[in-house]
Amino acid sequence: MRLRVLGSAAGGGFPQWNCNCRNCAGVRQGTVNARTRTQSSIAVSTNGNDWLLINASPDILSQIAAFPALQPARQTRDTGIAAVLLMDSQIDHVTGLLMLRENAGPLHVHSTEPVWNDLNSGFPIGRMFEHYCGMMHSPLPIDGSKIAPAPLVEVDITAVPLSSKAPPYSPHREAPVPGDNIGLLMENRATGKSAFYAPGLGHADARVIEIMHGADLLLVDGTFWTQTEMIDLGFSKKTALDMGHLAQSGKGGMIDLLDALPRRDSRKVLIHINNTNPILIEDGAQRRMLQTHGIEVAHDGMEFQL
Ligand code: MLT
Ligand code: MG
Ligand code: ZN
Repeated sequence: MRLRVLGSAAGGGFPQWNCNCRNCAGVRQGTVNARTRTQSSIAVSTNGNDWLLINASPDILSQIAAFPALQPARQTRDTGIAAVLLMDSQIDHVTGLLMLRENAGPLHVHSTEPVWNDLNSGFPIGRMFEHYCGMMHSPLPIDGSKIAPAPLVEVDITAVPLSSKAPPYSPHREAPVPGDNIGLLMENRATGKSAFYAPGLGHADARVIEIMHGADLLLVDGTFWTQTEMIDLGFSKKTALDMGHLAQSGKGGMIDLLDALPRRDSRKVLIHINNTNPILIEDGAQRRMLQTHGIEVAHDGMEFQL
């Protein structure tokens, strides 16, 4: 199974269009050692031609342009994107669906019921699509059962409900329900290798920790370095946790969580990185600290074989 990071940034991307923070201004001017990043999405394939798109980023068109495997190659209207799986209904994960409206047939979308409800109410892309190619929705179970979505072959996917947040426009923003946000366990039966992908992880319960123990690749929430990052910069009144994200530093943060995993041979990679996060600076102190803990930082175009 080939797993490709299409976009490694959180909402807004890096740099964010209207942001003049140290990171964003620095990467624009070339005065910091950092790479630009598009908004959150990965793609997975077992044959290298047909891909399951996981999340549809607002930057999907540039992500397709940057990755020939997703481009038309076989007929006059064609795509390497065979189906889409959504992990929540946040803007950075679903807006790209609108760019796929020219699809030749109904777009096949896998999501949990709460996410599908959001897409037919607070952010009604599902209903809008009825005027274009249409959507075919497959409900993603959150009871621990596995699905084996085409076009992947011999890959089992388990949706793991996570404690995080539905988006501000969700009818149940203030009354979270299981399935608002999920992590994905992807197990390749052919190789015995597995990945756990969770770009929005507010808190890891016992089940999540158990799954993390078993995974060969952990691609997890790298949104914020500190719990008060957005408050300290004067950008928001909300903590990382208020937004459904576990900060990396601090007691009980993501670094502690990853350190506590007993396996030494798994790869630990942070993804969904907010533009304010100091780990974006490749030669910065925070990046060095991550290195001492064996933690990597995802970038656009990064690939894994599992
Ligand atoms: C989040 O996950 O909190 C976001 O990236 C929000 C957004 O899409 O703006
Ligand atoms: Mg997000
Ligand atoms: Zn910024």
